Amino acid sequence: MPQVLLTRELVPEAMRALEGRCELDLWERSPEAMPRDDLLRRAKDKDGLLTLLTEKVDAELLDAAGPRLKIVANHAVGFDNIDVPECTRRGVLVTNTPDVLTEATADLAWALVLASIRRVAEGDRFLRARTPWVWDPRMMLGHDLYGKTFGIVGCGRIGQAAARRATGFGMRIVYSDAVRLPAEAEQRLGAEYLSLDDLLAQSDVVSVHAPLTPETRHLFNAGTFRKMKHTAVLVNTARGPIVDEAALAEALHAGEIFAAGLDVYEREPQVEAALLDLDSVTLLPHLGSATVGTRVAMGLLAVENLFAGIAGERPRTPLNPEVLER
Ligand code: GLV
Repeated sequence: MPQVLLTRELVPEAMRALEGRCELDLWERSPEAMPRDDLLRRAKDKDGLLTLLTEKVDAELLDAAGPRLKIVANHAVGFDNIDVPECTRRGVLVTNTPDVLTEATADLAWALVLASIRRVAEGDRFLRARTPWVWDPRMMLGHDLYGKTFGIVGCGRIGQAAARRATGFGMRIVYSDAVRLPAEAEQRLGAEYLSLDDLLAQSDVVSVHAPLTPETRHLFNAGTFRKMKHTAVLVNTARGPIVDEAALAEALHAGEIFAAGLDVYEREPQVEAALLDLDSVTLLPHLGSATVGTRVAMGLLAVENLFAGIAGERPRTPLNPEVLER
């Protein structure tokens, strides 16, 4: 039987798909995160690792696992936690879980757009605090979406799904990315390609859907916020370190931008203390793909990838398929 390490319990459907097909080493204190020392120790002599975005897969872990390791199946679309070139060098396959979470994540980005521009969570907190109130024409005003500009930073699968939703809100759609989309895709989305600076200057909503790379780390910093409209909102459902959280707290505090909605954090699961005190930011605990259907699909895809990799077959969603061509 192949030896598999699973770093946190998955949804029951995915756990059932693992049953009877491998010798499963499951981190027993799930949902607590697996400490690094335990991860290093228990990776030893495994054929496959089924990891989450919280596990750093680097040369140290690959050394600890040893030469039996054939695949790292990541239960996430993002793979900034994995040193893919190092895995490739060692002939270890890496897979992620794209596509199955695209629509759920775009929905959550929009939940944050609406929550931040219309002060939804703030209103909820206000009532729960038993604050006395009466309907007032000046009370808790947000900003309109209809006729405004929706700016997408990183227009891949999730960015495009967010764009499709913006059409329903009657918004103009602009995007910025390292690579411009084919004209046909721009036409289909009704999206206009802009430089990041032009996008920041023109957008009423800026939604981040880029991967975390050295180029996107702190892409949103004090200078970036100064280029945005005072009435704009920033939403980040991608990766926390793309936004400098201390600078964001200052920009919100100074009124340089109107509001923000965050699902991901620079030092996840920690949240910058200065943000916790601000009513103008809506905070969620990384729920982008957190729907029943999506988590089942992600779990089943990760398990399918895992067993394909162990069998030496091409997984459904490989990140380094060249490993199989050797
Ligand atoms: C979640 O953040 C993912 O990358 O799937």
